[in-house]
Amino acid sequence: MGIKKLKEDIYFVGALDRDRRLFDELIPLPDGTSYNAYLIKGSEKTALIDSVDPPMYSTLTDNLEELNTGKIDYIISHHAEQDHSGSLPKLIKKYPESKIITNQKCKSMLMDLLPVPDKRFMVVGDDDAVSLGNKTLQFILTPWVHWPETMSTYLKEDKILFSCDFFGSHYATDELFVKDVKKIYNAAKRYYAEIMMPFRTSIIKNLEKIESLDIDIIAPSHGPVYNNIDFIINAYREWVSDRVKNEVVIPYVSMHGSTEKMVEYLKQSLSGKRVTVKVFHLTGTDIGELAMALVDAATVVIGAPTILAGPHPNIVYAAYLVRVLRPKLKYISVIGSYGWGGKTVEMLADMVSTLKAEIIEPVVVKGYPKDGDFKFLDGLADKIILKHKELADNGMIY
Ligand code: FEO
Repeated sequence: MGIKKLKEDIYFVGALDRDRRLFDELIPLPDGTSYNAYLIKGSEKTALIDSVDPPMYSTLTDNLEELNTGKIDYIISHHAEQDHSGSLPKLIKKYPESKIITNQKCKSMLMDLLPVPDKRFMVVGDDDAVSLGNKTLQFILTPWVHWPETMSTYLKEDKILFSCDFFGSHYATDELFVKDVKKIYNAAKRYYAEIMMPFRTSIIKNLEKIESLDIDIIAPSHGPVYNNIDFIINAYREWVSDRVKNEVVIPYVSMHGSTEKMVEYLKQSLSGKRVTVKVFHLTGTDIGELAMALVDAATVVIGAPTILAGPHPNIVYAAYLVRVLRPKLKYISVIGSYGWGGKTVEMLADMVSTLKAEIIEPVVVKGYPKDGDFKFLDGLADKIILKHKELADNGMIY
C-alpha cells in the first residue's frame, strides 16, 4: 500500500504480501498478509518499529527513502520471528548508526537466528522508556503472543500501542485502518486461533497489563491498524475467557460413507436441540477454519474411520492440531467405524489426553451403522445436550 500516515510524523512503511498463501509452510493465508513496520520521527531521534520479511526488504527501504528518513537512531525489534526481524542484518548495514532496541530474551534469540552483532543492541526492560525528543517510547513485555520474547511499544504522546503479533491479522489491504470490521474480526480470530490460542493464559495477563494504558490506536505487525480499539480488545476478551459457545465441532474423514453417516445423524440430533454443529470434512478443510471453530466450541466430536488398525492419518493430524492448539473446549468424544478391529479410540484418546476436556464415551460401530447403532448416537447427543445445559446453568455459555 506504500507509505501511509497514522498521525503527525508516524508512518506505516511496511509491505503487503497479497499473494502469499501459506505461513510457516502450514497456516493458510486466504487473504495474504502484511508485514507492518512503522517509522516515528521525533524532534531529536528517529525510530523504526520492526522490519519486514526478507523478500520485502526493498519495499521497506524504498518507503524509508521516499520519506527522506536519513539517519535511523533506533530499530525496535519486538519479536525475533523472521517475518519482522529477518531484514535486520541488511538494515543495520544500511543504517550504521542505528541501535536495535529489544529485551534481553529477544536479543538472545535474534543472535541465534540472524547474523546480528552484540554491539548493535540496546537492551531494555519492562516499562523502560526512550525519548525521541517530543515523543516517548515505553516498552512493555508481552510474552507468549506467541513467542516467549515478544514485547510491545507504547507511544505515550500519541497514545498508540505497537503490539507486534498481538491483535494482528493476516489480511493484505490498502486500507491503513480497519474499515470492514466483520472481515477483520474473522481474520483476527483466525490469527488468534492459529498461533495465540495455546497461550491463552499468558494473553489474559497481557490484556490486563495493557488495560492501564490510555490507548487510542493499536498498530499490530500484521493486518490493518485499529482506531476503534474496543472492537478488538473485546473480541480478545471473549476468545480468552473460560466461557464457550453452545457449539459442537465435528472434524471427520469417511472412506466408505459409514463414519459420514454417523456424523450426519449426530449433527441432525444435535441441531434439532438447538446446538450449533460445525462439520469439517478433513480431506478438503482449510485448517484455519477448523482452528477458528475451536476458539469457542464447548465440545469436539472426532469422526474417525479405522485404517491399518488405527485412526485415518488425516484424523491423527486433526487430533494433533486440537492437542497443540489447546482450545478451551470442555468435552470431547469420538465416533467412527471399523472393519475388523483396531485401536482407533485408544490412540485418539491418548493424543488428546493433555487437554483439560472431559471425554464423553465414544460411539464406534462395526461397518455401516445399523438401526441399533443409532440409539448409541442418540445417547451421545443426549449426553452432550445435558453437559451443555449444565454449562449454561453455571454461566459458562455465551
Ligand atoms: Fe508475525 Fe510471530 O511473527
